[in-house]
Amino acid sequence: MNSISVAIDGPAGAGKSTVAKEVAKRMDLLYIDTGAMYRAVTFLVMNEGIDPNQEQEIIRIANNTSFNFSKDGSQIFVNGENRTKEIRSPKVSENVSLVSKIGALREVLVKAQRKLAENHNVIMDGRDIGTHVLPEADLKVFLTASVDERARRRFEELLETDEETSISFEEVKENILLRDNIDSTREQAPLIKAQDAHEIDTTKLSTTEVIEEVISLIRKVQA
Ligand code: CDP
Ligand code: CDP
Repeated sequence: MNSISVAIDGPAGAGKSTVAKEVAKRMDLLYIDTGAMYRAVTFLVMNEGIDPNQEQEIIRIANNTSFNFSKDGSQIFVNGENRTKEIRSPKVSENVSLVSKIGALREVLVKAQRKLAENHNVIMDGRDIGTHVLPEADLKVFLTASVDERARRRFEELLETDEETSISFEEVKENILLRDNIDSTREQAPLIKAQDAHEIDTTKLSTTEVIEEVISLIRKVQA
């Protein structure tokens, strides 16, 4: 296979990481979850009791943090510690978009993302992959779904993974709407569909159908 890079973007709960992870496994690509990196910085910021507006402090943290992924991309090691579970907490979800709009922080993380992708066949998911991180990607996919469906998916996941959660469906939906809004309106690398991206509305599709469609698009690019 010739070297290939695939960018998957879209709003929260559209299915980016589920699809990217499985496509990576089947097509032998390196999966890079850029959202996990923004979440990891937010986790450290919260842990140190830093306000999401303290930009200099946040950039200092990002500059002093190492990010490593397990081979299948599903686990993230932050400064050597597995933080996969902690970075998905509702508190991190509440603050991550505020932290992520800091332009200088984005520069640090984008540099790290490009470095992780170097010399690999990659599939990377996030908000600005096709527009900014990998503008020359061989294939760009923009996944969407209705906000109710995305909130339903996220809520179901929370029920499955955290029995003690007291968060309601409405709260999950509000968080998604708030994040989408901040992510789409920020100054630097906002969430928008790249002009040359293939948009897939997944509202009524199963994960298998989306995975198969992405694989078929990759095969077309390779042919
Ligand atoms: O999985 P989920 O859709 O909940 O979010 P995520 O992919 O883990 O990303 C969490 C947050 O990180 C997003 O809401 C964005 O604020 C930020 N993010 C970003 O700004 N740029 C990226 N490339 C990836 C994530
Ligand atoms: O990464 P992103 O925030 O876009 O979404 P995700 O973390 O992959 O979460 C999507 C959730 O919806 C997962 O629990 C999937 O099993 C489920 N799902 C999906 O991803 N795609 C569909 N077409 C249907 C359901």
